[in-house]
Order: sequence, then C-alpha cells, then structure tokens
Amino acid sequence: MADHSVAVSGETRLVGVMGWPVRHSLSPAIHNAAFAAMGLDWRSLAFPVREGDAEAAVSGIRSMGIEGMSVTMPHKAAIVAALDELAPSAAALGVVNCIARDGDRLIGHSTDGAGFVHAVNAEGGMDVAGQRCLVVGAGGAARAIVEALAVHGAADIAVLNRTASKAEAAVALGGANARVATADDIADAALVVNATSVGMGDDDRLPLDPRSLRAGQLVADIIYNPAETALMRAAVAAGARAMNGVSMLVYQAAVALKIWTGEEPDSAAMLAKAKSVLG
Ligand code: ATR
Repeated sequence: MADHSVAVSGETRLVGVMGWPVRHSLSPAIHNAAFAAMGLDWRSLAFPVREGDAEAAVSGIRSMGIEGMSVTMPHKAAIVAALDELAPSAAALGVVNCIARDGDRLIGHSTDGAGFVHAVNAEGGMDVAGQRCLVVGAGGAARAIVEALAVHGAADIAVLNRTASKAEAAVALGGANARVATADDIADAALVVNATSVGMGDDDRLPLDPRSLRAGQLVADIIYNPAETALMRAAVAAGARAMNGVSMLVYQAAVALKIWTGEEPDSAAMLAKAKSVLG
C-alpha cells in the first residue's frame, strides 16, 4: 500500500524515471526509500513518455523545475540531442540514463557502468582495478560495463559476444586493455560478467560454457529476475562466487541520487527496498 504518512509541500523537490513502458519500474520505490532514509523532502515518480516524445519531456523537466530524471527505454539515445552537456561516460557511450540539473543546464550522465563497479565492490568484495575481466554481451548494458571497467583500471577486458561486430564496437570503449574474447578466456578471468539477456525470466539457458568456470572467480549476472540464474547456479557448483543484478540496479540509482542531491545516499535502505519489492 502507498505510504502517504509524510506530507508533500511546496518545498518538496521532484525527480523521476521516464520511459515506455514505465509503470513496472522499480526506480521510484528505490529513490523514495533513499529519500526517506536520508531525511530529504524529495519524491520520485514514474513518467510514462512515449517514443518520440523525449525532447518534449526534456522541455518539461526544464520548465517545471524537476531536479533529475532517470531515463530508460526507449529514450536513452534519443534524449542526448535535447540536453546541454554530457558527462564523460555518457559522451563515450552515446546514451544517457540520468539527467541532472546544474542551474538552468541539463547534464546527461550514464550511471550504469559506475553502478556495476560499485556493486561488484560492495557485494562481491572485489576492486576491479588490476583484475582480468570477461564481459559476455555487447549491448547497451555490456558497453556501459566495459567503459566503466576501463575507467576503474581493469587489467584486461575481454568481450565475448554472439555477434562479432558488436563485440568489436564494445571493445572500442574499453581502451588499451580491451579485446575481443574467445571461449578460452573464460577460465582466466577473475571477474566474469553476464551482460546478455540469456537467463532472464523463464530462460534457463547459460550464456557461456559452465565447464570453464572455476573456484576463485566472481560471476556477476546483471539479471535480477530470477534472483538466481542458471549461470549463477553453475558458478556456485564450480566453487565460484555469484551475484545477481539487484545491486547494480541499486547502485546505478545511488550514483544518480548522489549527483542530484550532492549527498551520499543510504544504499542499504535502497537495497532492502529493491529486494522487498522483487520478493
Ligand atoms: P541491453 O541494452 O539490455 O544490454 P541489448 O542491447 O538488446 O540489451 O543486448 C542484448 C545482448 O544479449 C547482446 O549482446 C546480444 O547478443 P547479440 O549482440 O549477438 O545480439 C545478447 N543476446 C541476446 N540473446 C542472446 C542469445 N540467445 N545468445 C547469445 N547472446 C544473446
């Protein structure tokens, strides 16, 4: 049931998430849990914005004094042209998942990759600096992760993808330490990331050959539904550690909240809310 126990006033600041569809989004619940835990008079709402309406929505954000906006499908690329400036990761990736206000200027950020690196650190106990990493997939999520692994000093970033041309495009985001992978690279990686959609929902397939997994590895699946994918089960069976995508979801939001409010959000409260909503 909705919690109306804290009154909204003329001082209340507004952020949100825009997308289509957007009513299933966990972002408002996660944002509002953080605001409550931080004691901030801010609120977050979901804004259903149809494909083609990104520019109009940005005009609304501008003129209505909205403080920040998470951006999801189908607007992540289309929104770029309507913004005043892009932060480095968003500029490199050509997509925006977070709009922040700087006075009258609207800045586009990409917080997915930074969120992933935070999640691997907080939940997986791994600093990616100096690590050998294998990223399976080369879509939007994989590209953000490759870029962030490079920014955070990973020693080797190998990209394995069904479609080779997309793997090469993702590698181009990873700097001097990035390369196209082969299946032989799986066993050598300290961090194995599934950034494909293989394993999502009722899909019980694995995105890689599990016989290559071994003890000592951290296997991070960006999927959070189901909470345990077939890949994660295989990782644990091989003696590796496994984590799902909930903490990436939470930490990309935490990075956004830090940008919007200037304060360190309560990530534990956000994680608890995300897990309770997901059941
Ligand atoms: P997102 O933006 O969520 O990352 P995406 O851009 O559609 O989603 O990317 C999906 C990724 O999952 C891609 O790397 C895709 O591989 P291709 O580049 O070859 O399309 C990968 N993927 C999806 N279904 C797959 C399957 N059945 N087997 C292997 N890879 C798959």
